[in-house]
Amino acid sequence: MRLLQAAPEAPENAVSIRAELLSGLSASPATIAPKYFYDALGSRLFAAITELPEYYLTRTEAEIFAEHQNAMAAALGLAATLVDLGAGNCEKAARLFSVLHVRRYVAVDISLHYLRESLENLQQKHPAIEMLGVGLDFSRSLHLPAEVGTEPRTLFYPGSSIGNFTPDEALAFLRQANAECCGGSLLIGVDLVKPVNVLEAAYDDPLGITAAFNRNLLRHLNRLAGTDFDIADWRHVAFFNGGESRIEMHLQALRDTTVSWAAGERRFAAAERIHTEHSYKWRSEDFAALLETAGFSRPRHWCDARGWFAVFAAQA
Ligand code: AVJ
Repeated sequence: MRLLQAAPEAPENAVSIRAELLSGLSASPATIAPKYFYDALGSRLFAAITELPEYYLTRTEAEIFAEHQNAMAAALGLAATLVDLGAGNCEKAARLFSVLHVRRYVAVDISLHYLRESLENLQQKHPAIEMLGVGLDFSRSLHLPAEVGTEPRTLFYPGSSIGNFTPDEALAFLRQANAECCGGSLLIGVDLVKPVNVLEAAYDDPLGITAAFNRNLLRHLNRLAGTDFDIADWRHVAFFNGGESRIEMHLQALRDTTVSWAAGERRFAAAERIHTEHSYKWRSEDFAALLETAGFSRPRHWCDARGWFAVFAAQA
């Protein structure tokens, strides 16, 4: 097992992270990028979200993989090198190792810290698979290091993480993914349009776990950018924007408040919002067309019985 930090030419250093966060905070409307949800507590809160009865995405996708893995393997062709984008605990990919005959597994994540432990455990269970962990923020640019090798690759992007990209960003990302396949293939999970009440319950659960996940972003920001957000001043807001076909998450100020940091401050009026996440919902025919526009051929997909979630396979 090897670990490497990619893209040293664009270092994810504390200074650039701080500058990005503070410029988002000073914008109108203020925004914080969703990648900052995932500090140690945020990652645990997200894991708890995936256990909620209302959050159908993870469970439904797992059902689709379990039921159609042989058909997916046939559609993907040889998948000797599996590149897992946003690998985290590596569990989803590990379930596909045997059906895809994986010989080399490349786990990519923004944090090498979590990958180390996941990969050490996985390597013990699968000693014959060559494993590489890559620390890379591919939301900026998906350029895999040469160590990944020259064989065709199967890129694996589950969970509907693609939903965090606008359609234009998704197209740009998929074009890069197409190039990075080196003639291989793509396996990607996509959440679909469905009744609004089902969508909104998934992002505003009655236990308040998603609210905690959203509000925890401010604690992370206080640590990363030296701001002084008081979490008690902010409430979770989530709704489906039908025109844009996306769930939007915001943090809304409960009262007038001023947030300060070393070199500045931002005033928020009561009810003003900070935009924290987009989660786009696709129609399957539109996503198939997007894949073809991005240069993929023969997109196929598998759904659950309710038609709530789709897994697509396509050739680069
Ligand atoms: C990890 C981006 C797929 O959009 O459903 C879950 C994140 N946000 N609940 C999603 C999330 C609120 C999730 N993704």
